[in-house]
Amino acid sequence: MVILKPIIGILLLQYTRGTVATQDDLHYVNPLIGSTNGGNVFAGASLPYGMAKPVADVDGQNTGGFSTDGSNVTGFSHMHDSGTGGNPSMGNFPLFPQYCKDNLVDNCKFPKAARAIHYKNDSVVATPGYFALTLENGIKAEMTAAQHTALYRFVFPGGKAADGNELYPLISLDLTDLWDSRQNASISLDSDHGRMKGNGTFLPSFGAGSYQSYFCADFVGADVQGSGIWVNDRAGSVHELFVTRGFNNFYLQAGGYMTFIPSEDQTVTVRVGVSFISTDQACKNAEAEIPNPDDAFDTLKDQAETAWSNKLRPVEVTSGGVSDDMLSAFWSGIYRTMLSPQNMTGENPLWKSDEPYFDSFYCLWDAFRSQHPFLTIIDTHAQSEMVRSLLDTFKHEGWLPDCRMSLCKGWTQGGSNADVVLADAYVKNLTGIDWELAYKAMVNDAENEPLEWSYEGRGGLQSWKHLHYIPYLDFDYIGFGTNSRSISRTVEYAYNDYSLSVVAKGLGKDYSTYLARSGNWQNLYKDDQKSLLQNGTDTGFTGFFQPKYINGTWGHQDPIACSALASWCSLTSNPSETFESSIWEYQFFVPHDMAKLIKMVGGPEAFVARLDYFHTSGLADMGNEPVFLTVYDYHYAGRPALSASRAHAYIPSSFNATNSGLPGNDDSGAMGSFLAWSMMGLFPNPGQNVYLMIPPFFEAIAVTHPDTNKTATIRNVNFDKTFKKIYIQNATLNGVPYTKNWIGHEFFTQGMTLELTLGDRESAWGTRKEDLPPSLSDSVNINEI
Ligand SMILES: *[C@@H]1O[C@H](CO)[C@@H](O)[C@H](O)[C@H]1NC(C)=O
Ligand SMILES: *[C@@H]1O[C@H](CO)[C@@H](O)[C@H](O)[C@H]1NC(C)=O
Ligand SMILES: *[C@@H]1O[C@H](CO)[C@@H](O)[C@H](O)[C@H]1NC(C)=O
Ligand SMILES: *[C@@H]1O[C@H](CO)[C@@H](O)[C@H](O)[C@H]1NC(C)=O
Ligand SMILES: *[C@@H]1O[C@H](CO)[C@@H](O)[C@H](O)[C@H]1NC(C)=O
Ligand SMILES: *[C@@H]1O[C@H](CO)[C@@H](O)[C@H](O)[C@H]1NC(C)=O
Ligand SMILES: *[C@@H]1O[C@H](CO)[C@@H](O)[C@H](O)[C@H]1NC(C)=O
Ligand SMILES: *[C@@H]1O[C@H](CO)[C@@H](O)[C@H](O)[C@H]1NC(C)=O
Ligand SMILES: *[C@@H]1O[C@H](CO)[C@@H](O)[C@H](O)[C@H]1NC(C)=O
Ligand SMILES: *[C@@H]1O[C@H](CO)[C@@H](O)[C@H](O)[C@H]1NC(C)=O
Ligand SMILES: *[C@@H]1O[C@H](CO)[C@@H](O)[C@H](O)[C@H]1NC(C)=O
Repeated sequence: MVILKPIIGILLLQYTRGTVATQDDLHYVNPLIGSTNGGNVFAGASLPYGMAKPVADVDGQNTGGFSTDGSNVTGFSHMHDSGTGGNPSMGNFPLFPQYCKDNLVDNCKFPKAARAIHYKNDSVVATPGYFALTLENGIKAEMTAAQHTALYRFVFPGGKAADGNELYPLISLDLTDLWDSRQNASISLDSDHGRMKGNGTFLPSFGAGSYQSYFCADFVGADVQGSGIWVNDRAGSVHELFVTRGFNNFYLQAGGYMTFIPSEDQTVTVRVGVSFISTDQACKNAEAEIPNPDDAFDTLKDQAETAWSNKLRPVEVTSGGVSDDMLSAFWSGIYRTMLSPQNMTGENPLWKSDEPYFDSFYCLWDAFRSQHPFLTIIDTHAQSEMVRSLLDTFKHEGWLPDCRMSLCKGWTQGGSNADVVLADAYVKNLTGIDWELAYKAMVNDAENEPLEWSYEGRGGLQSWKHLHYIPYLDFDYIGFGTNSRSISRTVEYAYNDYSLSVVAKGLGKDYSTYLARSGNWQNLYKDDQKSLLQNGTDTGFTGFFQPKYINGTWGHQDPIACSALASWCSLTSNPSETFESSIWEYQFFVPHDMAKLIKMVGGPEAFVARLDYFHTSGLADMGNEPVFLTVYDYHYAGRPALSASRAHAYIPSSFNATNSGLPGNDDSGAMGSFLAWSMMGLFPNPGQNVYLMIPPFFEAIAVTHPDTNKTATIRNVNFDKTFKKIYIQNATLNGVPYTKNWIGHEFFTQGMTLELTLGDRESAWGTRKEDLPPSLSDSVNINEI
């Protein structure tokens, strides 16, 4: 069954899509991919962009709550982030079900470490919108989610106390989060109505300040037998509690509990509404979204599945016989791009606005490269709302975010990369965006240095404007931030200014300043710099970025430093002139002028040799986002075949369908989007109307534009599921020969068809100068951008 056959074929196809096919696609999604080995994915239940994200929390790799790393369950909580680094995110107010020996409440285990228990290894079930496991003590926990409400079903195994009475199920709620960041918190219990509600102040997991979180938990399906609060390992029938931290920051473990008369089905259902506005709002969210919690579970689970089916609907695969694991990796990657950012429209206490509010841009440094471009093709409307939310944040907080979580400003890792997200939306004609406001926000990043540039804007702008690079050990008295990363900030600021020039030009403004500044990366290129390995062997390449002092004298950073061949560098650990990666890797980050970079390093052949060395020597860090574009940079040297073989070298060896199948943090779906784009056969150069082409990993793939309903199709002729024929021999676009090795976004908006003829050898296709993607210095094309 394939796309683009006679009319009758198309009808048949549409018929299948509406019924069976999409269910099949959903069946390939495995939320457990990346649940260990540092992927940090959220494996629990969520709607697309949902704020409620229930899952079991563990005491091991719990950044996203759950992990299959063999660690123990400490509770079930209602909000999480997915794939992030930093501290474990949210996980506020976890529930924990248990029996108390002989029905004595003091026999129950209340504190986190005491209550932790393993689950039956084969009991974990994770599907879109649903998560379940059974604890070793036989208590089964199932969960599903509405937008702001988690719904749990705890099934107890039954049991008797020494006196022969039935054991009463107990469920506690802990006024904590995953990393015990709670400041003060309150809880109140209403046992007549089986309700607990409360609030707490917590710290963001990778940012500044604090946030307040509210909950409203209703226990149904079994009559309340007793209730109260617990503090450390003691409990009593008091119904109000306020905890705070003393002057020495003492952390008290405390919360509430209820016990229940066992019902016939031994089940206690708990509906937990969450909010960032108020406790009342948390209750209202819960009541509106799940009015009858006692018999809502299955319906809610179905609704979540339908919501995910609808989100996956724009994409259609004709597999050509590739393995289920490949399909699973692909569909799961797409799924993860829509867990975050989270839609918190109506849940923002910081300002009043009619604009959408999205949170958990965690972080744009990760997501600008391929995740936001991916949402642009499969969920255009959502991407437009996210852009509007970024702009509304600028309007009310004064700055575009670079990273944002739990209503707080997150740490900036490099440039002001929201600029690239905006330029990408601009060149792809996203609608509903106030472009004058966007321009203002971008100019603000480029012109005004904030006092605190560790979480907004850029640092070193005086030097940027007058010296045209970020100096090593800059003298900057205007603002404060971590005075490191001079090389990676220089290359990112250059691309941010390029992004601004694109929007400025489109709006008819003077863009010359920013276009000029976009060349600043060249000022850190030291053309006689060599790179030795740690044993002294010369890598054989000359010409690398190097740090430069204010006075113009070169400083020094070993080009292999901050790679796997040397040592790790981040904001806090071993801060260096490059962030989380080496000069080797940042050397390739000139997305707007690869032609000039290629010329500087000695031409296409020298460039390809360098790129090959980078990818085969251990210098490339597949586990972090700056590497993404380097997989496809061969296109700029006229060797698109090498990009294809490089992509196959990493998929599935580094990206696959196992629980440990991600090479690093998923970063809110950034890795998922890299995988999805790669397997789809296109890779975006974000901020530009450019997708670099390789053959899809399937016989055919189609993407239906969510607004225009036009279907863009890529079809491989001679498709080979063993992936020996992965080289494009020739191509047609809508039936006409097509020799460029890249294509614009019109492919999607107009619903074009690419047909690629594959062979097992590199061909001449896409190799000529006129076939290459645009570069600023090289081509007339760039003037059209
Ligand atoms: C469950 O899996 C974990 C980690 O994979 C392992 O350490 C543990 O022994 C397993 N438990 C059982 C009962 O097999
Ligand atoms: C996990 O819980 C089991 C009991 O379920 C216990 O034997 C084990 O020591 C715990 N592991 C850790 C790392 O705490
Ligand atoms: C709770 O903690 C926050 C943050 O530490 C503080 O601003 C607030 O005053 C505290 N509230 C109470 C009632 O102690
Ligand atoms: C938290 O809840 C307590 C008890 O219900 C209430 O007194 C307090 O005002 C609430 N705090 C906030 C910030 O809403
Ligand atoms: C976000 O939530 C708002 C309010 O519920 C809704 O109107 C909007 O459609 C949602 N956006 C997306 C992309 O889901
Ligand atoms: C240095 O290390 C490289 C890479 O591991 C190796 O190829 C080379 O032979 C080594 N050179 C010496 C002198 O040990
Ligand atoms: C420039 O500044 C650096 C760092 O202070 C210093 O080591 C170097 O000698 C200076 N160069 C000149 C030419 O003064
Ligand atoms: C799957 O990916 C992980 C993470 O990159 C890697 O360690 C593992 O070897 C891969 N597994 C397979 C079977 O390729
Ligand atoms: C696209 O298809 C949907 C669902 O069939 C329909 O509601 C919508 O009007 C269509 N849009 C256009 C532009 O044709
Ligand atoms: C494309 O390449 C194949 C294999 O080399 C060849 O058979 C075919 O004629 C070519 N088609 C065009 C339009 O060049
Ligand atoms: C965006 O809109 C302009 C003006 O209508 C059009 O020329 C251009 O092709 C569109 N770009 C894309 C990527 O669709």
